[in-house]
Amino acid sequence: MSLACRRAGMICLMMMLNFFCICILMGLSWNFGRSRSSPQKTIVPSERFWPQLVLSESFWNREQQRLDFIYNPVYSSVLSNSSNPGLPDWLNDTGPANLCEPDHRVAMQILDYNTLPKRFQDFLLHMRCRTYPMLINQPHMCDEKPFLLLAVKSLVPHFDRRQAIRDSWGRAGVVANRTVVTVFLLGNTEPIDHFPDLLWLLDHEANRHRDLLQWNYRDTFYNLTLKEVLFQEWLSQHCPQVQFILKGDDDVFVNTPRIIDFLEDLPEVKAGDLFIGDVISNASPHRDPKLKYFIPESVFVGPYPPYAGGGGYLYSGDLALRLYNISQQVVLYPIDDVYTGMCLKKLGLVPEKHSGFKTFDIEEKYRNSLCIYRNLMLVHSRTPQDMLMIWPWILLQLLLY
Ligand SMILES: *[C@@H]1O[C@H](CO)[C@@H](O)[C@H](O)[C@H]1NC(C)=O
Ligand SMILES: *[C@@H]1O[C@H](CO)[C@@H](O)[C@H](O)[C@H]1NC(C)=O
Ligand SMILES: *[C@@H]1O[C@H](CO)[C@@H](O)[C@H](O)[C@H]1NC(C)=O
Ligand SMILES: *[C@@H]1O[C@H](CO)[C@@H](O)[C@H](O)[C@H]1NC(C)=O
Ligand SMILES: *[C@@H]1O[C@H](CO)[C@@H](O)[C@H](O)[C@H]1NC(C)=O
Repeated sequence: MSLACRRAGMICLMMMLNFFCICILMGLSWNFGRSRSSPQKTIVPSERFWPQLVLSESFWNREQQRLDFIYNPVYSSVLSNSSNPGLPDWLNDTGPANLCEPDHRVAMQILDYNTLPKRFQDFLLHMRCRTYPMLINQPHMCDEKPFLLLAVKSLVPHFDRRQAIRDSWGRAGVVANRTVVTVFLLGNTEPIDHFPDLLWLLDHEANRHRDLLQWNYRDTFYNLTLKEVLFQEWLSQHCPQVQFILKGDDDVFVNTPRIIDFLEDLPEVKAGDLFIGDVISNASPHRDPKLKYFIPESVFVGPYPPYAGGGGYLYSGDLALRLYNISQQVVLYPIDDVYTGMCLKKLGLVPEKHSGFKTFDIEEKYRNSLCIYRNLMLVHSRTPQDMLMIWPWILLQLLLY
């Protein structure tokens, strides 16, 4: 027995040594990674150290190389045409001077452009434009500094979903002694997409509830990234002091009191970089043109960074401002949650998976069980009727526990 024990002790000691070594190695590589990304400490070696960089064959990656050249002092020396004669003169941009005019060069720059779905072509034509005027604004939304801002991606015709959210988890005001503010993010619904004209109704809603933000762009799936970037811009202008943000779809149920509890218990060191949700790691683009998330190889190659599913995620206001800042350096990508993952990666951050976020729903048998919702933070998908049914359970549990 004592032999077995000693053996086990030996193994244990070896494992600890191993672990120690791994820690040192990780520390080294972490430091190395840090020094590469911080501009002050950059030392550009005189000999070539990076592999020869070639112009990417994929359109998005190429555009990103251009932005990296313009914004990133480390890459710009590698990406310059003098150190790499195969690369273009990035500063001689032959596209339209007005970034919001369609860039018809893409038809020549992407081999299979003509075979791509029309909506994808549309995305590529307008990919560089990030400025769209606001049609409805609420500049005083955050006059009283919110603890939590609930930002809900909605579509003009979804009146019932918005009302159910106002009457349940998105009830603004003071929740659990914390100021909560709710806004709905809208683009425009245009006749080209066969939407009936609902703008009069929307005006009425905006005046009554004063919680709508609307921009004048076509509200489509690929333009959700635009919604993200325009919201970040709005936030940095009109709500920079917000402490936390929950951004989600209008068909999720959010356990707002649970989220506030969680945030209050959060250690301060974790709060600044907080970004949690239903995180997807090791994903890569779908290549089947029939899929909603299809991305052709001629447009993007490479793995996706870890990202939190767009159904809903929770992050700090401080990080929101940094995300807005860095997003200027990341080419718009047609899938909004992947795009946010790309921006996080550029900031050197990794979103964290939290088991309270159920963007793929919970088991059928639990869906109508009162108790299960107690520990959930967010669940997808729920109808307006579901929301109004579940909310009283949440309130009841507040009284009970
Ligand atoms: C490299 O870029 C410079 C301007 O940045 C340009 O004048 C020059 O012609 C380019 N050279 C090549 C080989 O493309
Ligand atoms: C920019 O590129 C175009 C086409 O590639 C070329 O005709 C033009 O001379 C270039 N302009 C400058 C200033 O290098
Ligand atoms: C409510 O919040 C205020 C300010 O944050 C605090 O002073 C007060 O003690 C809180 N009240 C309760 C009941 O937690
Ligand atoms: C995004 O919105 C802009 C502005 O309305 C529009 O021109 C473009 O076609 C839209 N893109 C997609 C993919 O719907
Ligand atoms: C945003 O980026 C600029 C440089 O691009 C930097 O000077 C500024 O401090 C950044 N602001 C924030 C809030 O990170």
